[in-house]
Amino acid sequence: MSVHKEVKKVTTHILQAMKARGEKIAMLTAYDFSMARILDAAHIDVILVGDSASNVMAGHETTLPITLDQMIYHASSVVRAVDRALVVVDLPFGTYQGNSKLALESTIRIMKEAGAHAVKLEGGSEISDSIKRILKAGVPVMGHLGLTPQSIYKFGTYTVRAKEEAEAEKLIEDAKVLQELGCFALVLEKIPAHLTKRVSEELVIPTIGIGGGPDADGQVLVTHDMLGITKDFHPRFLRRYLELFDAIRGATEDYIKDVKSGDFPNDQEQY
Ligand code: KIV
Repeated sequence: MSVHKEVKKVTTHILQAMKARGEKIAMLTAYDFSMARILDAAHIDVILVGDSASNVMAGHETTLPITLDQMIYHASSVVRAVDRALVVVDLPFGTYQGNSKLALESTIRIMKEAGAHAVKLEGGSEISDSIKRILKAGVPVMGHLGLTPQSIYKFGTYTVRAKEEAEAEKLIEDAKVLQELGCFALVLEKIPAHLTKRVSEELVIPTIGIGGGPDADGQVLVTHDMLGITKDFHPRFLRRYLELFDAIRGATEDYIKDVKSGDFPNDQEQY
């Protein structure tokens, strides 16, 4: 019997047990009540209220504009829907970098006002003080290395990170620092598959990959990408399980046609 089938409520300890048993962790994003309800009913292990809400929900080009208040709104909607999954919430850009007191204050707002179970921060040793302070307050922290979209203006592009030896070595070092600080898991975004494998083997905490190959301890995708709601996004790592943009557009066209022709509502669809 798998942990996935047995467990009524996923905790950070369950994720650790899954890694120890070699059972993969499935994580997806959600930003609203209705989607989170569906993902939880399907027994997703972790729901990430990602700052990708800035792109997917609000139509911004980057994740930088989303505010703490907006993340709390999304996160509280998700938490109300979830019975089983662990809900992890991104600390948005500007609410933790370089100021551990601010990082703790932001985290406390997310925990109190949204009812989240854990927070995620992007970066390595440079944000150690913030991570330490949050962990000291008893809040579980998920790390995020590799392509960290909040630093897009430093990177310049969304291409694969850590292809060069020096950046790969720095990433491995950072992964170990995050583990030693006490992070319960680590997202590895868009790095070479061999590097994901090495980090996952060297760490005891679970790694969750996106665009990092099959050897992470779990995988995460942006739900709107995997359902084909975001139409013009085709990175190599993305597998689309539905083409909802086309399906919803088709249904909408049918509805418009029925309204305009007077076919909707019919005799049964009225009081
Ligand atoms: O914001 C987000 O959705 C994320 C995932 C892509 C890992 O950070």
